[in-house]
Amino acid sequence: MNVPHFMLKEIHQQPDVIRHQLDRTISIGIPDRINILACGTSLNAGLIGQFLFEQIAQIPTQVRSSSESLSAPLLETPNTITIAITQSGETADTIAALQQVQSKRVAITNGIDSTITRFADHTIYTNAGEEKSVAATKTFTSQIVLFYKLAFQIAHENQKLSDREFASHLESLKQIPQQMEKLLNENTIVELAQTLKETRDLIILGSGINTAIAVEGALKLKEATYTHAEGYAAGEFLHGPIALLDAEIPTLAIVTEDDSRIQKTIDRIRAHGNHVIEITAKSVPELFSPFLAVVALQLLAYHLATLRGIDVDRPRNIAKYLTT
Ligand code: M6R
Repeated sequence: MNVPHFMLKEIHQQPDVIRHQLDRTISIGIPDRINILACGTSLNAGLIGQFLFEQIAQIPTQVRSSSESLSAPLLETPNTITIAITQSGETADTIAALQQVQSKRVAITNGIDSTITRFADHTIYTNAGEEKSVAATKTFTSQIVLFYKLAFQIAHENQKLSDREFASHLESLKQIPQQMEKLLNENTIVELAQTLKETRDLIILGSGINTAIAVEGALKLKEATYTHAEGYAAGEFLHGPIALLDAEIPTLAIVTEDDSRIQKTIDRIRAHGNHVIEITAKSVPELFSPFLAVVALQLLAYHLATLRGIDVDRPRNIAKYLTT
């Protein structure tokens, strides 16, 4: 595919990145607790992991920013597994945080033979291929697909998912690349970017598993477009932050087929005369909707950045990852 920027190329590689993970069987046993350490986009992938480990596999899970865990380590039990997730495998805080851990250490990384692998008992590679754009896109998708597979595997092994449910979940994952390709071929996000060209502040709402996607979408918009974007859980947004809204601040809401909870917040925002744009991910069950919602927000960040003339592969002030 001939595309002008690595970010767009890498966004379009995501269906294949998922396809390559589908036939893998990965297992980390059945811990009694899971701790996740990461930074930036990998931390947002960790929030998806937390949701899946708790809601599907029913394993208590905590996520902490690697830098925070250096002064406030997560609690560990003898059967805890700590997962450090880093696309590069070279992020200094994540490496240091993993080194502090006493429990079994698993690294999830895209960096073959990267430094993090030296401090892990077990490494799972995301196999997304090199990601050149500073903004992480395909590596995020490759991380979350691994979390889906791990959570389903644990849930099957500890009998929280029946054989039939396990097979049906894996089948739903198989449908994702095709659904993503459909979305990648649509023009609606380019049109949305045009309407937001002058927007300096933006709210993104999600609920359930898509709260993490709202936060990740806001990170993509900040780093690629310099928009002040904030991601919130829709219900929580009503408890104060809604006061921010005026005619200049639009809200993007991730709406899924089975999620009626977000509607209450949308109705409240509209009742105050403020603008809500719905990002719908209704063609797949809510559990799998993050794959589509995140692609829509990545595309929005990309198109908005290029409309604003920003060098999207090399935004100001940031490096791809921090080694010090
Ligand atoms: O290589 P890592 O996943 O450890 O990097 C962590 C963050 O620095 C990284 O995700 C950063 O937030 C990206 N620029 C996000 O697009």
